[in-house]
Amino acid sequence: MLSSIPITFTLNGQRRTVEAPPEQCAGDLLRDGLGLTGTKLDCREGECGSCTVIFNGEPACSCLMTAAQLEGAEVITVEGVGAPGTPHAVQRGFVLEGAVQCGHCIPGMIVSAVSLLERNPAPSEDEIRYAIAGNICRCTGYAKIVSAIQRAAEILAGEQAPAAVR
Ligand code: FES
Ligand code: FES
Repeated sequence: MLSSIPITFTLNGQRRTVEAPPEQCAGDLLRDGLGLTGTKLDCREGECGSCTVIFNGEPACSCLMTAAQLEGAEVITVEGVGAPGTPHAVQRGFVLEGAVQCGHCIPGMIVSAVSLLERNPAPSEDEIRYAIAGNICRCTGYAKIVSAIQRAAEILAGEQAPAAVR
């Protein structure tokens, strides 16, 4: 049986300490240990992007990280993006553009898009496609997902504009 150690990190803005085996998959810890099942684990080898979280400000595959690597880190999962009554602009963009089919890839897409727009508020289509290149969608064909992220950038730009020009 694997022995557990205390791991302290910031998860969706809250400082947390959990007991987990240091070599446990970080994605499994998020899902099974902490109940954050928005993060999906499919390929478990860094190919599909369904397990994407924001790790110290950058998108990262939680399937490729150990629980020990979370120590001291700042992690944002899809549960930390927006809220049911106040969705994030990226979530609104996905709804407005009808960019969701089965939905399985969407948490990873949302997290990658949020990370992109935090680094680059006005990305080109090529930059959007590059940012989600690690997120595989088997349903949509990507066009509506790209439109959704463009729409989110417009929403965010509108929210930041002075009231007189909105
Ligand atoms: S489950 Fe992590 S990239 Fe596929
Ligand atoms: S919406 Fe089904 S995998 Fe992307």
